[in-house]
Amino acid sequence: MPVITTIDDLHRIYRRRAPKMFYDYCETGSWTEQTFRENTSDFAEIRLRQRVAVDMSDRSTTTTMIGAEVAMPVALAPVGLTGMQHADGEILAAVAAEKFGVPFTLTTMSICSIEDVDAQVTKPFWFQLYVMRDQDFLRRIIERAKAAKVSALVVTLDLQMLGQRHKDIKNGLSAPPKPTIANIANLATKWRWGLGMLGTKRREFGNIVGHVQGVSDPSDLMAWTAEQFDPALDWAKVEQIRDMWGGKLILKGIMEPEDAKMAAKIGADAIIVSNHGGRQLDGAVSSIRALEPVLEAVGDEVEVWLDSGIRSGQDVLKAVAMGAKGTMIGRAYIYGLGAMGEAGVTRALEVIHMELDKSMAFCGHRDIGDVTRDILRVPKGFSGDWD
Ligand SMILES: Cc1cc2nc3c(=O)[nH]c(=O)nc-3n(C[C@H](O)[C@H](O)[C@H](O)COP(=O)(O)O)c2cc1C
Repeated sequence: MPVITTIDDLHRIYRRRAPKMFYDYCETGSWTEQTFRENTSDFAEIRLRQRVAVDMSDRSTTTTMIGAEVAMPVALAPVGLTGMQHADGEILAAVAAEKFGVPFTLTTMSICSIEDVDAQVTKPFWFQLYVMRDQDFLRRIIERAKAAKVSALVVTLDLQMLGQRHKDIKNGLSAPPKPTIANIANLATKWRWGLGMLGTKRREFGNIVGHVQGVSDPSDLMAWTAEQFDPALDWAKVEQIRDMWGGKLILKGIMEPEDAKMAAKIGADAIIVSNHGGRQLDGAVSSIRALEPVLEAVGDEVEVWLDSGIRSGQDVLKAVAMGAKGTMIGRAYIYGLGAMGEAGVTRALEVIHMELDKSMAFCGHRDIGDVTRDILRVPKGFSGDWD
């Protein structure tokens, strides 16, 4: 195994090993990619306060997210087509997360199905729901999640339609890839990926194919989304889903205090301050800038988490110090998965954990539960001095 000390190391290997189409799908934002870039660069604006002569022994990053104990305040975010980044990717990531002691979230748009993942893990996982026009499909998928003993439903609110990502259109993104000359030429150089794919039967959208009617081309994510995702999703529908589900509910994609108040009012157990990793509304502020206004609005009513832009344990520490009770990572674990499967996801989690643990100690704390905003130097006006 090569020596991996950063998420960036995994990113470099991932870039070499994954087919261009799926690498581009992951490593893109919408339109100009301003929000995608600022999600990471804004974390770097925040600095940490070094403390000295503090006992650093017996440290703990253990905490809870919606009542579940986690080894660190990090969950794996739902990521579409994970099973195209590496054969059986969702299963491998779920197993790595379970062994590490952090939650795994399966997306509606996965390659491995809810049932496939359920068969390979021993503890409950989370399921992320995209709300479809097809009411029967919606009802059935919620029933399937219940049957798999999913312990929380994550409803994503910021994707009633796709934010345009130029590369996906140009690459003709599909799962599985279509046998075009460009794809065949690129896949011929990705033998490791190809061998993995030959060894699995999971190459289509596992939750969808065979479970939904009237899809013109189920391999075409963009066409599928335009046909099936419910553009009329509103708070009344979110309440209906809450009632259909009846279990723990996490609302993902909240960026504004007004929306956070609605989410708290309808009884969400947690909300995720997220701009979908910069893949939806380009021009939105980074999640880390959006966090504090949301916390001021609802921080004592509902657990507030954050995702988008986390590439290190220091980013996790900054989010937690600002007041997030938990975080999610997307690309950081996908880099690991695409680089080296389950071992790569584990390595991504180890890197983030080590960085979080040591940075927390340098800032003078031994327990993640004691970390407050006092450890940060935040630029004036960071969370918004906008008109
Ligand atoms: C390739 C890719 C696919 C994604 N697919 C989904 C999805 O199916 N459902 C969802 O709610 N979010 C999806 N997201 C957003 C992630 O859940 C998460 O919000 C985002 O990755 C966080 O930003 P980060 O990648 O900078 O950590 C996706 C993100 C990426 C990078």
